[in-house]
Amino acid sequence: MVTELAKGVYWVGVTDWGIRKFHGFELSVHRGTTYNAYLIQDEKTVLVDTVWGPHAAEFVARLKEVVDPSTIDYVVVNHAEPDHSGSLPEVMRLCPNATVVVSKNGAVSVPGHYHAPWKLQTVKTGDRLNIGKHDLVFLEATMLHWPDTMFTYLTGHNILFSNDGFGQHYASAFRYNDQVCQEELYEEALKYYANILTPFSDRVLKKIDEILALNLPVAMIAPSHGVIWRKDPLQIVKQYQEWAVQKPRRSAVIVYDTMWNATERMAKAISEGLTESGVDSKVFHAALTDTNDLMVEIFKAGLVVIGSCTHNNGYLPSLGQILEEMRGLRFRNKIGAAFGSYGWSGESVKEIEEHFKRCSIPLAREGIRVKWQPGTAEIGQCREFGRQLAGSLKQG
Ligand code: FEO
Repeated sequence: MVTELAKGVYWVGVTDWGIRKFHGFELSVHRGTTYNAYLIQDEKTVLVDTVWGPHAAEFVARLKEVVDPSTIDYVVVNHAEPDHSGSLPEVMRLCPNATVVVSKNGAVSVPGHYHAPWKLQTVKTGDRLNIGKHDLVFLEATMLHWPDTMFTYLTGHNILFSNDGFGQHYASAFRYNDQVCQEELYEEALKYYANILTPFSDRVLKKIDEILALNLPVAMIAPSHGVIWRKDPLQIVKQYQEWAVQKPRRSAVIVYDTMWNATERMAKAISEGLTESGVDSKVFHAALTDTNDLMVEIFKAGLVVIGSCTHNNGYLPSLGQILEEMRGLRFRNKIGAAFGSYGWSGESVKEIEEHFKRCSIPLAREGIRVKWQPGTAEIGQCREFGRQLAGSLKQG
């Protein structure tokens, strides 16, 4: 259903209730998502972003409820990732003379994806495009999260079209932040930040400072996924400032995989040691836990403890995806530790410690290994290990 955000400004996106894996299969989206596109009717007609290609027919039908697509003058492509640009070929087939507005990097990524003879107009931060009564103002947001990313601001109605920034993979029947469950909304906004924007946190802080310094009035922040922030729209900006600092909680995440429960018993004993020291911990079986949900838990915690029995001279394969995801997200302000059982060669702990180095997560202390099954004494050592780890966590 088309939603009019302000006079002449419409949401014309698509709600994808059914999707559960995004970016191919990289990202879990338990609550579906939306692909938000916006149509602005002023003296010129402007489309801001499109939707993922498989939804092109629904998108064009929605667009036609508001406008004859052949009359579109400008298509602003804030970001060429196919979830937003995938319907561009279909749109441009309907308005072949429209100008595609892109950032400098978008002038590379859009042709790189579509190899089409569209008329491109390149804009940079601060450029204005008059569309009649109002202007579009462009703000490059390089590496938030692609080189081409930019935000587009509509004067008069004071709407910031922030593309992925401030978005959430959250399918909903309503379009605005004040109409949905706040707990769900913030869970999804955090999952989005933790899994996509964490490595760019410094840029997030700088970009927010830059935007705030412009002193633009902001009536709405309209991202390309999830709901539009209209009630206290800057609340999500403040929340991003807090998340970007990555201040950890005085808590631990323990992740393990196990074959015959020896490493699992170690995990539980380490958790007990942390508990005895007043540190909260959550324990996850690596093979049974959604990696992206786990990244949210790791994002929040100050201590990450990872364990595996030794298998083929290394750790169990389920940890590979988790460790690789951690490396890519470049978490800050955490400490780590490793543990694991073994029968003969016993390399898993060292391998996990090597991986912590690749993640730039300093070790709180040397890891703990137990040969075969832990007995009472070894369980006690694991508890003590937990107590020692608690001592390494900063108070706060
Ligand atoms: Fe929602 Fe970076 O695409």
